[in-house]
Amino acid sequence: MTTRANFLDEPYGAYFHREVPQPDDELVRVGPGTPCGEYMRRFWHPVAVSDELKDLPKAIRILGEDLVVFRDQSGRVGLLELHCAHRATSLEFGLIEERGIRCCYHGWVFDVDGKILKMPGVEGTLKDRLYQGAYPVIEKWGLVFAYMGPPDKRPEFPDSANFHIPGYQPAIPSVNIWPCNWLQAKDNNVDPAHAAILHVWEIENGVGTGFNPAFADMGVMDWTETPFGMVYIVTRRINDNVWVRLGEFVLPISMHIPTGKENGQKAHDTDFVSGAGWLVPIDDENTLRIDLALIPDNVERFKPGIYGQDGDRPYELRQRIPSDYDAQVSERPIAVHAMERLVSTDKGVIMMRKQLRDGIKAVARGEDPPGIIREEHTIIPTYGSNTVLPIPLAPTEEEDQLLLKETGKRVAAQIINQGGSHKFIEDR
Ligand code: FES
Ligand SMILES: [Fe+2]
Repeated sequence: MTTRANFLDEPYGAYFHREVPQPDDELVRVGPGTPCGEYMRRFWHPVAVSDELKDLPKAIRILGEDLVVFRDQSGRVGLLELHCAHRATSLEFGLIEERGIRCCYHGWVFDVDGKILKMPGVEGTLKDRLYQGAYPVIEKWGLVFAYMGPPDKRPEFPDSANFHIPGYQPAIPSVNIWPCNWLQAKDNNVDPAHAAILHVWEIENGVGTGFNPAFADMGVMDWTETPFGMVYIVTRRINDNVWVRLGEFVLPISMHIPTGKENGQKAHDTDFVSGAGWLVPIDDENTLRIDLALIPDNVERFKPGIYGQDGDRPYELRQRIPSDYDAQVSERPIAVHAMERLVSTDKGVIMMRKQLRDGIKAVARGEDPPGIIREEHTIIPTYGSNTVLPIPLAPTEEEDQLLLKETGKRVAAQIINQGGSHKFIEDR
C-alpha cells in the first residue's frame, strides 16, 4: 500500500507536498511476473502494422519483453524472442528466408513457431530438441495481434462487431509511441469531460480533426458497465433533440469511440460506426498507441493523422494548443494515483480501475478474467455509438438536466440489453 500525498488545506502549502509517493504497482506494472503483467498476458494485443512487415524484420518491445516481428517470404508472420537462442545476437539483424528467419551471426534458422530449421555445422540432435521462444499471432484489420500468455490459457480472438457493419472498412489513421505508462492514457478513454476543455483549444483554433463545436458543451455525464468493460454516456441538448453519445472501454486496453463528426442536429437511430484504439504497454513507461478508424467503403483516399496524438509538434505549439499527448504524457512517466484528487467527473476512471483490479485478482486466483472469449467464432458486440432523439426542451433548466440524465441512462441500458452493434448487424 502506498501512502497518499498530504491533503493541502492551506495557502502556500507546497512544502507539505514535496514528497512524491510511489505509483500504484498493482495496476501500472506490466513486466513478466507482475500481477498486471500476467493479467495483460491473457489477452490478444496488437503489436505491429501488417503493411510494415516487408523484407526486413522489426525489433519491438511489448509488456517489457524484447521481441522481433517479421514476415517470411512465404507470407507468414513470426513473433520471436529478440535474442537468438545460440548466443543472443538480435534477430533484428536476421535475414528473412522462404521459411522463417536466419540469425546473421551463425546462421541458425527459426520458423515462425520457434522451431529450429537449420543449425549450420552443428553436430548432434540439439536442433530437433531446442526452440527459439515464439508467440502466436493473428493478422486482422491490417494489424498483427499477439498472444503472450500461457499456451494452455490462450483465448479466442475477440472479433469485434463494429468491423462487420456493412459499407465500412478499417483504416489506420495513426500509430504512435507515447513515453508514459499505459494506464494514464487509458484513463482518458473513460474521461469525456476533457473533450469539452482540452479539445476546445483545437476547436477554437480550427486545427482539431476529431471534434466539432458541439463538444464544447460538457453535457450530462454518466457511466455504466457492459459485459466487456464499460461506457461513458454523454447526453447533450441540441435544440429540440437529445444526443446520447457512448464511448466504450473494452477490457483491458481497447476502446470504441464513435465519430466526432456527429453534432446532434438531425435525429437518427443508434449509429454504431466507431473506430477502435489500443494502448499497448511497451513497458511501464512507454505505450504503443494504435488507432483504427472505420471509413466508408467508397472513400478512395484516406488521410491519416489525428491532431495532437504525438509529440512531434513544435514545443511552443504544444504549449499554445495542447492536446491529448501533452495532457496525458505530462502526468509523469507513471502517473501517481496517491497524488490525485478524483472528483465527480472521474467516476469513469474509478470504475475502470476497479474493473482492471478485479481482472488482475481473478488471474491471481487462477481464473479467467472478465472479457476473455472462450467460444469459437464469437463476434463481440460494441456499444460505442451516437443516438439522436427528438425530445423537446423541459420547462425549466433543472428539469431538462434531469431529462437528459434519464434519457442517457435509458438509451444506454437499451443498447446494452439489446446486444449493442451485434443486434444492429443481425437486423440488417
Ligand atoms: S548468435 Fe545466432 S546463430 Fe549464433
Ligand atoms: Fe482527447
